Amino acid sequence: MYTNKTVAPFRRREGLMESFVGEAAVALQVLSGVASASRAFPPGRPIEPSEETLLPHEQRHAAGLMRVNHVGEVCAQALYRGQATACKREQTRELLREAAIEETDHLAWCDTRLKELNSRPSLLNPVWYATSFALGALASRAGEKYNLGFMAETERQVEAHLESHLKKLPEQDTRSREIVVQMRDDEIKHRKTAQRHGATALPAPVPAFMKFISKVMTKTAYRI
Ligand SMILES: [Fe+2]
Ligand SMILES: [Fe+2]
Repeated sequence: MYTNKTVAPFRRREGLMESFVGEAAVALQVLSGVASASRAFPPGRPIEPSEETLLPHEQRHAAGLMRVNHVGEVCAQALYRGQATACKREQTRELLREAAIEETDHLAWCDTRLKELNSRPSLLNPVWYATSFALGALASRAGEKYNLGFMAETERQVEAHLESHLKKLPEQDTRSREIVVQMRDDEIKHRKTAQRHGATALPAPVPAFMKFISKVMTKTAYRI
């Protein structure tokens, strides 16, 4: 005869399996570039690479920067999904999953712009996704308020990073600029949402470590 005690471990294993399969499907969607945006592409109609008017060296530079932005969005998706997986509170879990979904627009826009620039996303995206997912799951174990603090700090760093890209992008690359401006405005909104829900400032070494990881990512993604 089966009792609650004998059935519970099977249910737990079944639940874990379901969540693993679900996460693997999301990861595949993010990494294969099939994710589509729910909002319109900020510059309007996507163009063919042959219609691009930037000079070759400007095009290469813009593609490097947009590839970095694309990796940033891959990392944001993975961080939030990782945090949501290990987070115990349903409301925070929902907030993290919603944030990950909203980043899908950014991911799709960067992908479209890379195609317009006759370029491609980073080859190291699977590595960045796995690392960020693990970091998110680890951060989640620090507790509820730090979970939201981690989200607010991520958004703050991405916001600063996008601001710096507005200075680095070729002046005449209005298409990339329109995308980056919209992304920056959305990240400000995401940061404020996390703060409104009770985000706590992270202990000093954590933002510094996040900054270090992001520096390694931006340096490599610009080229690879
Ligand atoms: Fe984003
Ligand atoms: Fe965001």
